[in-house]
Amino acid sequence: MSKPQLINTVAKMQAQSDTWRGEGLRIGLVPTMGFLHEGHLSLVDYSLSAADRTIVSIFVNPLQFGPKEDFAIYPRDIERDIKLLAQRGVDAVFKPQTVEFYPPDFSTTVEVTHLADGLCGAMRPGHFRGVTTVVSKLFTATKPHLAIFGQKDYQQAAVIRRLVRDLNLDLHIEVAPTMREADGLAMSSRNVNLTEDERRRVPALYQALAMAKRYIECGERDTQRIIGEMRSQIEKELGGDIEYISIVHPDTLEDLSEIAGPVVIALAVRLANVRLIDNISAEPSRK
Ligand code: PAF
Repeated sequence: MSKPQLINTVAKMQAQSDTWRGEGLRIGLVPTMGFLHEGHLSLVDYSLSAADRTIVSIFVNPLQFGPKEDFAIYPRDIERDIKLLAQRGVDAVFKPQTVEFYPPDFSTTVEVTHLADGLCGAMRPGHFRGVTTVVSKLFTATKPHLAIFGQKDYQQAAVIRRLVRDLNLDLHIEVAPTMREADGLAMSSRNVNLTEDERRRVPALYQALAMAKRYIECGERDTQRIIGEMRSQIEKELGGDIEYISIVHPDTLEDLSEIAGPVVIALAVRLANVRLIDNISAEPSRK
């Protein structure tokens, strides 16, 4: 087990990536905010198998948190993260410093419109601008051929694909499946902030998504009817503040009133200290 190089300036990261590129090696990047779990590690494994060198970035990006959000309590444990990444055989950990990434006169942002407006974008103004800005900076610093994101953040992945397409960035985006706990809860660094009672009840979210998928596969076409059923089930089993439950087109992320093809069912629920999101893809069965 060899420790990954820990790199914390943009110049050193770019120099290392230039060296690897000069040697004809393919670079994979897994952008994270740390406090790694099996979901992140599955993205790392994908990169290790698809690229010659794997960089994991760890940066809790202040720009993507609203003033009343959980930036201060977002879990952090860099020592543990590095140990996990060393066990996996990652080549470098890029941990930029906030003062270098966002100097006091920082004044440039990158914004994807439309795709970023609904779902989480409507609930967290400025969030995706923060994500697309930091991801652009991470791409510039690490110069990857390939970057891997998780499907749990479905809208984020769609927005980043659009960013790459619209700015003609020379890299490939891969989206890997959501990893779940045995009871269906989508893995997330934030799960550690759930109370014991919330942790017991949160599988209700996946159960509601799975129920909706079954309805669709059995021929239900009316999205409002499905959303209504999901809402009642979540209110009964979990409570919390349901920010949205939406059934959207997988590419445009526009709300659908009727199901005629593949869809994504997405939701966000706010509990006392944690905001959880999840989604599932569904398609009416062809008879
Ligand atoms: O998904 C995340 O963890 C973050 O949004 C990302 C992509 C690392 C940007 O900060």
